[in-house]
Amino acid sequence: MLLAMYRHTLENRQHHLVALIGPAGIGKTRLAEEVLDAVSRGRTPPTILRGRCPAYGDGLTFWPLAEMLEQECQISQSDSPAVVAEKLSAAVDRVCAPRLGPEDSRAVAAGLGVLLALESAERRVSLPDPREGDDAGSASTTLFQSLRKFLKAKAESGPLILLFEDLHWAEESLLDLLEQLGARGTDAPLLILCLARPELLERRPTWGQHVRNYATMSLSPLSTEQSHQLITELLKGESIPPDVRLRIQAKTEGNPFFIGETLRMLIDNRHLVRDGGGWRWSGDPVDIRIPDTVHGIILSRIDLLSPLERRVVQDGSVAGRVFWLGSITAMGLPAAEAQAALERLLDLDLVEEHASSTVAGEREYAFTHALIPEVAYGTLPKTMRSAKHLKFAGWLEGIAHYADEFLEVLAHHYDDAWRYRFETGEEAQDTARKAIQTIRRASARAKARWTLPEARRLCDRALRILHSAGLDADVPLLLELLTDRCEVVKWLDVPDVVLEDTQRVVDMAAPAGREDLLARAWLNRAFAANDRGRLHEAEEALQRAETLFRSLGDRQGEAETLEMLGFTTEDLRGKLTAAGEAYRQALQRYGEISNAQGVARTSVRLGRCLVNAGEIHRAEQLLAGALQLARQSHERISEAGAVVGLAIVAHLTGKSPAALDRYQEAIAIYLELGDLMGAASAHRHLGMHHLRMGAIDEAEAAFQRARTLRAEYGARSESAVLLRGLAEASLARGDLLQAAEYAEEAMRAVSDFDQLAKATHGVTLARVRASQGREAEAERLFEAGLKLLEPSEYVVDLALALLKYGEALLVLKRRDRASPVLRRARELFAGMGCAFFAREVDARIAPPVHSAGS
Ligand SMILES: Nc1ncnc2c1ncn2[C@@H]1O[C@H](COP(=O)(O)OP(=O)(O)OP(=O)(O)O)[C@@H](O)[C@H]1O
Ligand SMILES: [Mg+2]
Repeated sequence: MLLAMYRHTLENRQHHLVALIGPAGIGKTRLAEEVLDAVSRGRTPPTILRGRCPAYGDGLTFWPLAEMLEQECQISQSDSPAVVAEKLSAAVDRVCAPRLGPEDSRAVAAGLGVLLALESAERRVSLPDPREGDDAGSASTTLFQSLRKFLKAKAESGPLILLFEDLHWAEESLLDLLEQLGARGTDAPLLILCLARPELLERRPTWGQHVRNYATMSLSPLSTEQSHQLITELLKGESIPPDVRLRIQAKTEGNPFFIGETLRMLIDNRHLVRDGGGWRWSGDPVDIRIPDTVHGIILSRIDLLSPLERRVVQDGSVAGRVFWLGSITAMGLPAAEAQAALERLLDLDLVEEHASSTVAGEREYAFTHALIPEVAYGTLPKTMRSAKHLKFAGWLEGIAHYADEFLEVLAHHYDDAWRYRFETGEEAQDTARKAIQTIRRASARAKARWTLPEARRLCDRALRILHSAGLDADVPLLLELLTDRCEVVKWLDVPDVVLEDTQRVVDMAAPAGREDLLARAWLNRAFAANDRGRLHEAEEALQRAETLFRSLGDRQGEAETLEMLGFTTEDLRGKLTAAGEAYRQALQRYGEISNAQGVARTSVRLGRCLVNAGEIHRAEQLLAGALQLARQSHERISEAGAVVGLAIVAHLTGKSPAALDRYQEAIAIYLELGDLMGAASAHRHLGMHHLRMGAIDEAEAAFQRARTLRAEYGARSESAVLLRGLAEASLARGDLLQAAEYAEEAMRAVSDFDQLAKATHGVTLARVRASQGREAEAERLFEAGLKLLEPSEYVVDLALALLKYGEALLVLKRRDRASPVLRRARELFAGMGCAFFAREVDARIAPPVHSAGS
């Protein structure tokens, strides 16, 4: 079946995501290797890249991807960062440049560099669109986009198979990324083969199900017959007493690993002994005792080792599945003894030596199965664990340039070192500090990679250690940790956590002399207050933040505060001129400190703000500039935001083909970035455009697509604005009942604090009511909506509302009253340069002769 899948991948040039599920030792790795072997001998041998998810280590999210990339680029661990960078860009260039051009290829290499710890990617913050309400806040990195481009280009040049081992240990962000990769597709022969124990599906029961070309297979145990065969093979055809064989078969339930280990154990403990051409049972004939579980079997094998060998196995297991001679001797064993023990462990097939080592100049070993270190570690008394983790971490740190690469591994070991000391009743503050500092660095890296859930877990962990170790009294450290966490969780849509943490910082920072953290706390509070729609709280917090940042001379902080002020003013206060002024000041600050991404992002915000204010031409100029800047600084989310802005401008000025192109361009960028909410929002705008052009079917298709994308993201499938679009489409089709339902639902979905949305959605409902002949209600709704819109600066919305009001009056056969309303709309549209809409109004003021009679 796997072979068939691979052929399908080849023939249809399609990617597939396959999960092979089964318990430990059932034979997943072996089956996968056999399949890979078979396809490698076929006519079109694929490139095969392998990666393994480590059993521990928050923040080691993309470890297996890094392994794959290293294979592809032929990077060895002894390479210096400069050599790594060189090899990466050469390899990416080879794969991508012919297809994507040199510039894109460089961008891909830069994005992938994150995997190899070459550079911390700048955070990529999506542009919340104040008009989209709950659509705000999705974010992503360039990693996904770079990876996808790279894999696509690679697969286009020849079939590609990615083998992920032990996916049950994968972190959330990696699982998400694989799903996205599958969902976006590559249209190239790419097979992603994932091996996992059933825990994976217990943890994420729906994993993979969004992916079209997804298949999951479970590997079943060997039949009695096959077990029999395997036993015979393992004993090289030599005979074994049938009662022993049956006993093994009964106990091991067709698990090949279990069978093999059982035989080994029985031979190691001399119950099975060679006798001529076969095997004889030497123990008590009625006492064929076999442990109940694979774990039990491994435990008995470890028990049979000499104390020295056992110690090597235990010390090795502290490192994990892979360990080094140096890490063993670092824990105290003399090299000669360790080496002798390792020879014996190699003979017993408990470990294997790697031909090349990830640590230069160090012999590298691996346990032959993942369960061996799991069980061995369990046999290590807790009182000894802490010292061993510390020694291992010390050894790792000693190998200078690995320390950074293995930051997350280091964090894990310091964490465990502290935990086991703590569990034996110590506070162990020195180890706690070491753990906290390493975890902080790991969390900063996770955040730079935009794997926020992992970053958050690491922040939580550091805070918990601080508390348990009795370090609460170190106020500056506590405040720093709280601030770290806020900077992460503010993007995770949990304003309550942010409000609570920042409150603690606000209470304690000034007495501790940490005004810098106080300023950050106010800025983060503003962020959370804005999310909650609490205008005054947000404004007050911003004011405080700004004053503090200014007195500290922190231009970056000031710029961020002004940007946020602009956003709040636009989003919650609905004041466009004031918002624009704040954005301009933010732009100036970002310019002063040469923060190109800040400039690009804020220009887009200002441009979109000007569009709403009806300053279409200035908006267009600004957005065109912002687009260029965003492209130069690889600020892709802003690039998409600028493109949408330009599409709206094209829509308003009646340049339909340009608008359509722009919307498609923006959608493509969002999808590339895996930003489903961004893509959904662009589809909604596109739908509105189609609707204005009279293409109702296309409009509805676009709205449906927006719905699907939102659902795929895990959001409510309709936002208020989307419901409003659907209402207008139903109205255009003449389905009044449906239109009314959508419009009513849109009104209900609007947040209370969003007065402007209440007004525009009310106008849509009013238009529907007019068509239903419910005149009084329509009048009331129009009046209420216009009352809010008239004094606002949302000129485009006002003009559109007047147009709808005029249309409604015509439907209600009130031509006299319609004329002045429509003339006002026309004036507004003309003033903004919206020629298309001005003509639309004209057509209603003086309907073309051929339809006048109806
Ligand atoms: N069909 C088979 N015939 C003979 N030996 C097998 C077979 N399947 C697996 N084995 C052997 O059983 C052992 C365990 O198999 P494997 O490592 O593939 O398990 P796994 O499912 O990948 O386990 P884990 O979840 O722990 O990674 C290996 O030594 C392998 O060679
Ligand atoms: Mg395996």
